[in-house]
Amino acid sequence: MSASTFQCLLVNELADDSFRREVARQPIEALPSGELLIRVHFSSLNYKDALSATGNKGVTRRYPHIPGVDAAGIVEESRHRSFKVGDKVVVTGNDLGSNTWGGFSEFIRVPAEWTVPLPHSLSMRESMIYGTAGFTAALSLHKLMLAGVKPSDGEILVTGATGGVGCLAVALLAVEGFSTVAATGKLNEQKFLKTLGASEVIDRKSINDTTHRPLLSGRWAGVIDTVGGKYLDSAIRSTKLEGTVTTCGNVTGGDLQTSIYPFILRGVNLLGIGSAFCPMDTRLKIWNRLAGSWKLPDLNSLHEEITLHELDNRIRLMLKGGVKGRVLVNLNSEAPQ
Ligand SMILES: NC(=O)c1ccc[n+]([C@@H]2O[C@H](COP(=O)([O-])OP(=O)(O)OC[C@H]3O[C@@H](n4cnc5c(N)ncnc54)[C@H](OP(=O)(O)O)[C@@H]3O)[C@@H](O)[C@H]2O)c1
Repeated sequence: MSASTFQCLLVNELADDSFRREVARQPIEALPSGELLIRVHFSSLNYKDALSATGNKGVTRRYPHIPGVDAAGIVEESRHRSFKVGDKVVVTGNDLGSNTWGGFSEFIRVPAEWTVPLPHSLSMRESMIYGTAGFTAALSLHKLMLAGVKPSDGEILVTGATGGVGCLAVALLAVEGFSTVAATGKLNEQKFLKTLGASEVIDRKSINDTTHRPLLSGRWAGVIDTVGGKYLDSAIRSTKLEGTVTTCGNVTGGDLQTSIYPFILRGVNLLGIGSAFCPMDTRLKIWNRLAGSWKLPDLNSLHEEITLHELDNRIRLMLKGGVKGRVLVNLNSEAPQ
């Protein structure tokens, strides 16, 4: 073990109930218990991290805390027979970055059961360009296809299309040959979304129905919704006979008000997507697909790379809905990658 301290983004709760984020140093002994000590090379910024970093107690109960639901790195110490020193690994979700110190840090210590061997055809950098956002987009597509939705059924709607989950969903749908309609609040990003594979880009206002009619004209064979609330309600009411809607996001809040009619009159399916506690067999299947037949040739066009020092600014931007694509956090810019 070379290091006795590590650098991280530490979030402190102050006496006036506000939260302060600072790049700080912590002793290795301060890390939680776990079988694997991992030197983190890359992490990424997800919406949940922005909530954790700004004191959302629904995500993180106790501070001081290190956010970061994602980490890719190299095993530095192992007390588990499935992993040895030097193995390249990926950890996403579980409790990482929620109530366990997370990936915005040069080191994490985690249980082996949270840890996935890095697939051979992915670099650590590529795995974190996907990160939880890419994993969630892939899980959404996987479930949509398991429900029987196929390209010949018609158009798929993606909401929050320029965001992390949204843009990767658009790109993965294109790989499978789906015709995708990308709904966005950033109409100036049409070129970005079309290059990723969207067949049409629409203003998100146009899919927010305010008539409250129980059924709207059925357009979507499937929906990958990342924002929730009134957009999800409208999407459900605009889904065709036997179509399928996946829901993963709560950007507009946690409530969903809708009616029973799309489900009982059109047979619409609503599928929940939970990446954090996805079972290991499905988790491995999804990572292997992202590294194999779903590996995107243009991954590098989807992200910007930043350091711990630049995170605070991107966290604020993300909470305003301003991030486009993925934000990759480089924890070890000196090392070969
Ligand atoms: N269930 C799971 O396992 C899971 C996993 C990962 C993420 N998530 C959730 O999925 C959501 C997206 O995560 P992310 O990491 O992709 O976040 P993100 O990169 O910040 O993307 C969110 C996108 O939503 C759109 N948006 C923002 N504010 C909005 C508003 N007020 N009304 C409508 N649309 C708005 C924006 O896209 P446009 O400007 O293009 O419209 C924004 O880029 C979050 O709620 C996150 O918690 C869930």
